[in-house]
Amino acid sequence: MLAVLTEIRPVTRRDTLYTFECPDIARTARPGQFVEVRLTDGCEPFLRRPISIFDADGARTFSLLVRTAGRGTAAMTGWSAGTEVDVLGPLGNGFSWGPEDRDCVLAAGGIGLAPLAFLAKRLLDEGKQVRLLFSPERDAELLQALPFRERIGIVFSENRGALPAVLTSILRHGVDAVFSCGPEGFLETVAAYAAEYHTPCQLSVERRMACGIGICLGCAIAVRTEQGVTYRKVCGDGPVFRAEEVVFGEEP
Ligand SMILES: Cc1cc2nc3c(=O)[nH]c(=O)nc-3n(C[C@H](O)[C@H](O)[C@H](O)COP(=O)(O)OP(=O)(O)OC[C@H]3O[C@@H](n4cnc5c(N)ncnc54)[C@H](O)[C@@H]3O)c2cc1C
Ligand code: FES
Repeated sequence: MLAVLTEIRPVTRRDTLYTFECPDIARTARPGQFVEVRLTDGCEPFLRRPISIFDADGARTFSLLVRTAGRGTAAMTGWSAGTEVDVLGPLGNGFSWGPEDRDCVLAAGGIGLAPLAFLAKRLLDEGKQVRLLFSPERDAELLQALPFRERIGIVFSENRGALPAVLTSILRHGVDAVFSCGPEGFLETVAAYAAEYHTPCQLSVERRMACGIGICLGCAIAVRTEQGVTYRKVCGDGPVFRAEEVVFGEEP
């Protein structure tokens, strides 16, 4: 479907916030879901790029927070207000939570903040306590993208080395749920500490995606089941998985 870009706002030197008018996505998007974005009208880059929904107002607009990583995301920075962009979505399963999840910790590694921002907004709307663990601290400028940052507790982890101590300091007091998104090593550490403190934990994982809709099998991830290790599609079965399911370091 076509989404009309209404605002493009640089947040940091390499991160940009794109807001689109597109009621179909704005009305139905859930935190943790993503869209597949077509980048140009031409052939290059050919494949759409998966981008998490950073915010949606439930009526008309949704937004994406995008880090310029390569050719595709660089092409996006050339867009301007009024550009019509072809997007597929909302895709994927999204995060889940319930009334028992009162005290929630959201652990973001860098641009992994994007899907957690939408989740934080929904949790705050439901009166939950929300704390954001953000790493690395030098990326803190990115938090300027959060309109509600005064309403959440923010704890920084200076770098990956400091993460275990920060997680311990938070989780040992008891937390109802952890939700995380970030680089694989970051997620692995979050999952390990959540397991140690018996805290339910959901992870939004990334894989390179070709189709985004379950056809190409390019986005497989190894997961543990009662029958042993098997593979799931990040685009359709994920991108959110229970932390204990994810087998780290195993690519098909
Ligand atoms: C479900 C999902 C949600 C995502 N949400 C966001 C988001 O909200 N904001 C955002 O900035 N990015 C997000 N990404 C990552 C984003 O899709 C990639 O950064 C983007 O595809 C890179 O495209 P490119 O053409 O700019 O870079 P490319 O030229 O394709 O690649 C540039 C570099 O990025 C690496 N890369 C590309 N795709 C991925 C990927 N999927 N995972 C890890 N590394 C990758 C490549 O290995 C290469 O080093 C998400 C990815 C997934 C799978
Ligand atoms: S991206 Fe094609 S099956 Fe998941």
